[in-house]
Amino acid sequence: MDFHIMTLFPDMVRDGLNTSILARAAQRELISIKTYNIRDYTLDKHKKVDDYTYGGGAGMLMQAQPVYDCYAAIVAAQRTRQRIRTIYVTPQGKTFHQEMAREFASEDQLIFLCGHYEGVDERVLEEIVTDSVSIGDYVLTGGELAAMVMVDAIARLVPGVLNNQVSAETESFTDHLLEYPQYSRPEVWHDKRVPEILLSGDHAKVDAWRLEQSVARTKERRPDLYERYRKEQSGEK
Ligand code: ADE
Repeated sequence: MDFHIMTLFPDMVRDGLNTSILARAAQRELISIKTYNIRDYTLDKHKKVDDYTYGGGAGMLMQAQPVYDCYAAIVAAQRTRQRIRTIYVTPQGKTFHQEMAREFASEDQLIFLCGHYEGVDERVLEEIVTDSVSIGDYVLTGGELAAMVMVDAIARLVPGVLNNQVSAETESFTDHLLEYPQYSRPEVWHDKRVPEILLSGDHAKVDAWRLEQSVARTKERRPDLYERYRKEQSGEK
């Protein structure tokens, strides 16, 4: 899967994503992460990419031309004639969640546009953006961190990126439940004992215990998710 990221800070994005599991996945050519500096596409002789907003107001706006030309260059370089899903990362978007990550992970290519300043000229957004997505109800200084969060969450769902595929299937948010507590060696640490059932070797009992723990934890920490789980279990709409 190919990720194309349009940004004013390509180094930040490249460095942030080129580590650990994603770096290995890129080496194995399961994913590719390409960054594009929007500034390289401006026709302004001073390399300017922003200007004042019509109608007044604080702050500068990213101009349409460099964003559009950057996008057009990315699209022109791809073999596909299909429209590539283009995600504008913005606090004004739909809130990102695991199901969305799963849906995006089924695409062959994705383009991300990272906003800066007070945003981006609406006209270019109208022409290129297919999805506006936020990572939560707070405002960052730019879209880069948000795009990195999304790329990470999507890339790890690409088959083969995680060594054990099971872990992507049983982790938090699958079936609207948070993951159960887990323990590793030693059996006793700070006088705390690993729950006996996990040492029993009885897989059916272990599974039942884990589900019970997941349900209890979700109910306590995320009543909103628990409600969705409960409705789904009882067949309520
Ligand atoms: N840019 C600034 N804040 C953001 C957020 N919360 N989500 C996505 N993009 C952003």
